[in-house]
Amino acid sequence: MTLSKPTPVGSDPENPWYSMLRCLRCHAALRLLHGELACQACASTYPIDDEIPRFVPQESYAEGFGYQWNRHRLTQLDSYSGMPISRDRVMNASGWTAEELRGKTVLECGSGAGRFTEVLCETGAIVTSFDISSAVHANAASNSRFSNLRLLQASIYDLPLPEESFDYLICFGVIQHTPDVERTFKTLFRYVRPGGRFCIDVYAAPIAYLHPRHLLRPVTKRIPPARLYGIVQKIAPKLLPLSMMLTAIPRVGAYLARLVPVANHRHLNLPNKKAMRDWSVLDTFDWFAPRYERPQTRRRLQRWTKEVGLSKVSIERHRGLYVISGIK
Ligand SMILES: C[S@@+](CC[C@H](N)C(=O)[O-])C[C@H]1O[C@@H](n2cnc3c(N)ncnc32)[C@H](O)[C@@H]1O
Repeated sequence: MTLSKPTPVGSDPENPWYSMLRCLRCHAALRLLHGELACQACASTYPIDDEIPRFVPQESYAEGFGYQWNRHRLTQLDSYSGMPISRDRVMNASGWTAEELRGKTVLECGSGAGRFTEVLCETGAIVTSFDISSAVHANAASNSRFSNLRLLQASIYDLPLPEESFDYLICFGVIQHTPDVERTFKTLFRYVRPGGRFCIDVYAAPIAYLHPRHLLRPVTKRIPPARLYGIVQKIAPKLLPLSMMLTAIPRVGAYLARLVPVANHRHLNLPNKKAMRDWSVLDTFDWFAPRYERPQTRRRLQRWTKEVGLSKVSIERHRGLYVISGIK
């Protein structure tokens, strides 16, 4: 066997993590051969781009996400903002602690620029993290310092990973942006071991549909990402002060601000104006660019969890999200 560069992020030649990867076609083990992953049984090969094994075509419906996360690689990272915003979101939503995660295997699905990857890696968990888009390169640029990170570019619908093998699964901000939310939701549980824990969030319907962005999305989601980003980058900083002024009005302010099509993170108390502007541009783009955005009702989520056979599950409302967590 020829071991040639590049080797996948986080891999130790003595104990290569990619030996856990499976061929998408025949499920046999893969091995590193001439800088690619090659199936030991059939002729399939999988490229390694900048040290990240790739199991999807370079282009997909999530191209806008790749663009946004590479433009905003650092914006939402706690190590960059200096605030524990991502850490609090993971720990508060899931109820997990850093102590319990240490040494456990965690599967992070749809990791974007890796704001939650960083939090999970810091606990000492063994984190397998993937995204369908080129966002994985932003994640690697920020988080490849963690030797406990295994990073790949892959889709939830076709994962090169062994089923029922992870102690923990986390998936934030993703499932509403996939073409078949029910299939996405149900597929995730296949990778959690019996007795393992999961935490998934999704935009809450019907409230999320009442947002005025849905009037513009049929047009904006068709605009190429770089062009749309240019528009958002010009307009969002102009609208943000008006939105901030409205949110400051007691009682009705938050409702009034919804009429201004710009993301406003007043509640996060970000450290300075630049951070507020960057988060606003990022999240305004994130409203208008995705090909799919399908919020879900509590009733539908309850039905799906029953159909998957989950009994220890809770569905909690946090701001505009439902958080589904429990034990498989
Ligand atoms: C709104 S972003 C959330 C990223 C990250 N979890 C966060 O909260 O910062 C949604 C992410 O889901 C990814 N995604 C969409 N469909 C996917 C799929 N089928 N498999 C894996 N990732 C997917 C997108 O590429 C994008 O990075």
